[in-house]
This record gives sequence, C-alpha cells and structure tokens, in this order.
Amino acid sequence: MNISFCCKDDNASLWIGELQTALPQASVTLWQPGAPQADMAVVWAPPQQFFDEQPQLRAIFNVGAGVDALMKLRLPAQALVVRLDDAGMAVQMAEYVCHAVVRHMRHFAAYEADAQTGRWQRQLAPDRSAFPVGVMGLGVLGERVWSRTPKGLSALDCYAGLAALPHFLARCRVLVCLLPLTPDTQGILNRETLGQLKRGAYLINVARGGHLVEDDLLPLLASGQLAGATLDVFRTEPLPPEHPFWRHPQIRVTPHISAGTLPGKSIAQIVDKIGALTRGEPITGIVDRQRGY
Ligand code: NAP
Ligand code: GLV
Repeated sequence: MNISFCCKDDNASLWIGELQTALPQASVTLWQPGAPQADMAVVWAPPQQFFDEQPQLRAIFNVGAGVDALMKLRLPAQALVVRLDDAGMAVQMAEYVCHAVVRHMRHFAAYEADAQTGRWQRQLAPDRSAFPVGVMGLGVLGERVWSRTPKGLSALDCYAGLAALPHFLARCRVLVCLLPLTPDTQGILNRETLGQLKRGAYLINVARGGHLVEDDLLPLLASGQLAGATLDVFRTEPLPPEHPFWRHPQIRVTPHISAGTLPGKSIAQIVDKIGALTRGEPITGIVDRQRGY
C-alpha cells in the first residue's frame, strides 16, 4: 500500500517516520508534484494538484477535525474523506473555552488592568446563574445546546434546527461557536443573530473565521449588545497586524490554537483506521460530503 503525505505547516519528517514505523508493510512518502499514485493520503490543506494527480485514492485522512478547506477542492469521487475524531483536541477545546468564560465572568481583564497601576478595586461577585452558556454545535468537540438534529442529553437543554435558534440565542449570555463551516453556517454569527443574545453577551468563536461577519462585531461591541469576544479563528489567517481586532480592548485574539492536532494520538488513530479499512471493517469519522462535515 502507498500512502502519500501532504500537510502544510507540519513536521513532515516526524509524521512520515511515525506512520512508516506503525505501518511497516506500507510505503509512506512525502508528496511532490509528479509523484507516483498512492492508495491513501494523509493531508492538511493540500493543493488541488495533489488530488488532480491522484484520482484513484481510496481514502483521504484529514489531519484535523474541520474539513471545510478540503470540501472546497475537487476530490476523487470514490475516496472516503475521514476527519480526526477528537484525538486529544476535545480536552484542549474544553480548557480554552473554560478559560475564556471564567476570565470574562470573574472580571480578570479588569484586575489585570488594575494591577498595572496598583489599583485595589473589587468587582461585583459573579453570579453563575446569570451566565447561561450556549454552545452552537454538539459534535465531537462541542457540548451542545443547539445542533442540526435533537440529542437525548439530560444535563443540557438542547435546541435543534433553525426554528429553535432564536429561543436558544435569547437564553445565552455566553455564546460558543463550535460548528463546522458549511454553506448553512457561513456567516451565522452576525448582527441579527448576535443581536438576539442577552444584552451584554460574550462571544467565543473557536470554530472557523467564516462563521463571523467581522464587520458586524465592532458595532455590536460599541452599542453594548456584546460585552466582549474571544476569537481564535479568522477569515484571514494569520490575522494581519493592522487588523482592528488585535488592539480592540474588548476583543481577545489567539492564533488558532484552541485545539491543536497532537501527532502521537492522531497518527495512532489514522493507523487504526487504515488497518480497519484494509480489513473491510467500519470506521468512524467519515465525512458526509453532501452535508460538508
Ligand atoms: P463535528 O463532530 O462534525 O460536530 C459538528 C456539530 O455541529 C454537530 O453536532 C452538528 O449537528 C452541528 N451542526 C452542523 N451543522 C449545523 C447546522 N447547520 N445547524 C446546527 N448545528 C449544526 O465537529 P467537531 O469535531 O465538534 O468540530 C467542530 C469544528 O470545530 C470543526 O469543524 C472545526 O471547524 C473547529 N475546530 C477548530 C479548532 C481550533 O483549533 N480552533 C480545532 C478543531 C476543530 P448534528 O449532530 O446534528 O450533525
Ligand atoms: C483545526 O482547526 C481543526 O479543524 O482540527
């Protein structure tokens, strides 16, 4: 079996070495234009040429959870597209989101500012019940209060479908976006939807930059409808140095790090799935290309 590796921004020799060690019967090589056809591919943000030159791929393993970049390309019709299932990302995402919620709710930004000038100033003690948190997207990474189809989780109030969206939004003081980026969710964080949150709400976008209509955010902050935002993802990445989000006092920017791919866990998962596919067994994480995630 030939496995072609093509990942932008990744440590190719580490990945190829570990995949090769775990799959001694296969030949794992770094893709270059004109390389021989492979049976399977391990990719992150490959160029269109990668797929144009390899129309016979059986499976494409995406080295991440989100497949929106892949879905924009022309892929071999018969190839399974497989995303990472957690592989150590869910706990990172939970840590990031908890940190952002607690930092906002406990006024840590104000205390950090006061510390700069030696100002001893207590803020109002936070009342947890005044901070209902809503998560858009109950997938592998999200703990959901709203998703495409209903779920039977007793500890959460679950909302599903577009008709339920206004009811969901009206209850949220903190909104976390963990949706996949698809034609249905592009621009879903906008003036109208964010305007339906409780006044003074806080936005945390850890999904994709395309979910947020960036031009709508600053007026929502200026009007007080939003108290602030923590943003990990952007329409243009890296976020250009002159972008107003960098210096806005109510916006916290991080460079797309809320849940990073862990090579060890990811390689183990991909190797297990290659083994299962080779034996004709079912695997999880197959992307529904029609749905786009
Ligand atoms: P997932 O398992 O595919 O879950 C997606 C969830 O979104 C599902 O619950 C799905 O509902 C729901 N959904 C999809 N379309 C919807 C719609 N139109 N309306 C309402 N709900 C909808 O994905 P995941 O592994 O949790 O990852 C989510 C996203 O996080 C990824 O796509 C990626 O963009 C992003 N991500 C970001 C980072 C980072 O570092 N910033 C890292 C990893 C992932 P159903 O259950 O009904 O299908
Ligand atoms: C990262 O953004 C991912 O989709 O895994």
